[in-house]
Amino acid sequence: MSFPLLLALLPSALASFPVPPQQTKEQLSLFQKTSAAAKEASDAATPKVLEFFDSTEFRRVLQGCCPDVAGLKSTELLRRYRAEAQIAELSHALPAEPQKKQKKEVFDDVTEKEVGHLSWFPNEFQSALMHNVTALSAPINNYAQQHIFGSVPFAGMPPTWQEAENRLIYIAHNMRRLDTGSLPNFGDVTVVFNTSRVRNSVVIAPYDTGLFTMNCLFPHLLIQKAKKPLNCTAWPSPAVGTLDHLDHLIIPNLQIPYNRSGTNQTWKDGVRTLWSRAFTETPYEDLPPLTLNDMGNYLEADVLANPRLPDAVKYVIGNFPILFGTDDGRKLQQIAANRSWPLFWGVGNGEPVKKDKNFTDPSKYPGNQRLADPSIVALTNATLPWGAKRAFDKVWEEATLERSKRNVTKEDVKRWWTNLSSSELRVAPLSASSCAIADRCVAVAAGDCVCILETQLLTV
Ligand SMILES: *[C@@H]1O[C@H](CO)[C@@H](O)[C@H](O)[C@H]1NC(C)=O
Ligand SMILES: *[C@@H]1O[C@H](CO)[C@@H](O)[C@H](O)[C@H]1NC(C)=O
Ligand SMILES: *[C@@H]1O[C@H](CO)[C@@H](O)[C@H](O)[C@H]1NC(C)=O
Ligand SMILES: *[C@@H]1O[C@H](CO)[C@@H](O)[C@H](O)[C@H]1NC(C)=O
Ligand SMILES: *[C@@H]1O[C@H](CO)[C@@H](O)[C@H](O)[C@H]1NC(C)=O
Ligand SMILES: *[C@@H]1O[C@H](CO)[C@@H](O)[C@H](O)[C@H]1NC(C)=O
Ligand SMILES: *[C@@H]1O[C@H](CO)[C@@H](O)[C@H](O)[C@H]1NC(C)=O
Ligand SMILES: *[C@@H]1O[C@H](CO)[C@@H](O)[C@H](O)[C@H]1NC(C)=O
Ligand SMILES: *[C@@H]1O[C@H](CO)[C@@H](O)[C@H](O)[C@H]1NC(C)=O
Ligand SMILES: *[C@@H]1O[C@H](CO)[C@@H](O)[C@H](O)[C@H]1NC(C)=O
Repeated sequence: MSFPLLLALLPSALASFPVPPQQTKEQLSLFQKTSAAAKEASDAATPKVLEFFDSTEFRRVLQGCCPDVAGLKSTELLRRYRAEAQIAELSHALPAEPQKKQKKEVFDDVTEKEVGHLSWFPNEFQSALMHNVTALSAPINNYAQQHIFGSVPFAGMPPTWQEAENRLIYIAHNMRRLDTGSLPNFGDVTVVFNTSRVRNSVVIAPYDTGLFTMNCLFPHLLIQKAKKPLNCTAWPSPAVGTLDHLDHLIIPNLQIPYNRSGTNQTWKDGVRTLWSRAFTETPYEDLPPLTLNDMGNYLEADVLANPRLPDAVKYVIGNFPILFGTDDGRKLQQIAANRSWPLFWGVGNGEPVKKDKNFTDPSKYPGNQRLADPSIVALTNATLPWGAKRAFDKVWEEATLERSKRNVTKEDVKRWWTNLSSSELRVAPLSASSCAIADRCVAVAAGDCVCILETQLLTV
């Protein structure tokens, strides 16, 4: 379906950047090796995790944050952790606009427009080659992919197109259920991959591998603004995991972000945030807020493949403060419709101006404000509140008008959201227990699952 479109739009690109295999031989063999090692490491860690879950200190934290689960057996806590890890969103945030050539960006990434027509989802080395740029992150990612994930080194930099196709796509594993799927600072558009389509390529580190590389493994590569006091010894022998084998990542994920000499916080704060957002019965709308720092404590669950578009993507989430009422927002609606991707909007940090992630910002954000674009009714069995489409369009127009006159503020964003939250369908990401056939479902709204219509299933 997308092949003729690709020909029409990218004649020169097609010639120099042929479509890579869905999973190269190198990717497949690395995944198989990783999976075997992960099983061994995970099995070895299971007793330690159960012991940790049984510790007095851990239980005391649960009593405080999450009394409804604080009395569960450690084996049940582990079962639930594994179950939520299976269902958590595999999110990648990307920019709406191409990066400006004259500005040196930390990352290079595929853009909104490109995911609208490419036939696969490119990794950052592939997009940098297509864009003819070298991002600041290239040496860091290259180091991490070799030394943490075991990728074969490139002969030189930049890599060849054939070398780049063996690398991975960065994914934030959204167990903390951020409304934007990934961190709002990583990009304005989040694609959420369909887990069942990429499962046999997901390789997982307990923490952001770029930050871990710069702060712990190879400080020569440190970008000053990424300096962070991590506990580097909490992940002593970097062993990665898979969706089926990840017990050995559970404790490092909680400990790496906190180094006593640099922060007042400890792993107990991490437990509080994770358990209160992922494991309690609290309705999504009432989850406690979290800091940008908390949002960054995801498992990094990367995709070691060249997943096919549009099928590998389950749905997309637009950054509401940045895109609502803009041309890029309209383009996102068109792309989502064209690709048959359900579209949602997430408020994230409510910030309409792009800013670098500030690790020391103590502000907390709700991170639970996600609503369905009215177009969702064409693709799913969602029922919209009466008048939702009209109300959405009206506030959109207002936002467009306001944006044309001045730089909008967080207060403007809050006003649009407050208005819409009474007229639109507010949604939550799936939990392990929410839907019978989670594979086909894209959200939970008013206690019911929102799932792809059967007619859609027949056409893809
Ligand atoms: C890529 O960029 C380099 C300089 O940054 C330039 O010399 C070269 O012509 C560019 N290649 C293409 C195909 O645009
Ligand atoms: C904690 O941070 C300090 C200061 O940055 C550093 O010297 C130390 O090695 C770190 N400790 C661990 C366990 O990573
Ligand atoms: C790092 O974590 C280990 C447990 O893995 C802990 O014993 C140690 O005290 C921590 N170090 C710092 C500096 O926080
Ligand atoms: C750490 O704790 C000290 C003493 O309670 C306090 O003055 C300081 O502001 C705290 N620092 C941070 C980063 O929270
Ligand atoms: C997607 O867009 C292309 C070009 O604009 C169009 O030819 C195609 O029919 C669209 N597909 C769908 C499913 O809307
Ligand atoms: C980060 O946030 C803190 C607290 O709000 C502020 O004091 C500091 O200036 C900010 N740093 C940057 C680089 O914006
Ligand atoms: C909006 O902000 C930009 C950058 O801060 C500034 O250059 C511009 O003048 C502002 N526009 C208006 C209409 O205030
Ligand atoms: C939302 O905005 C519309 C358009 O300005 C307005 O008519 C409506 O009264 C507002 N609704 C609420 C609940 O604020
Ligand atoms: C996810 O992929 C599976 C096939 O592996 C498919 O059955 C399912 O419908 C897809 N889900 C969505 C929401 O597209
Ligand atoms: C949507 O379909 C799913 C699966 O068939 C079903 O469980 C769910 O209740 C339906 N939701 C609505 C809102 O009809």
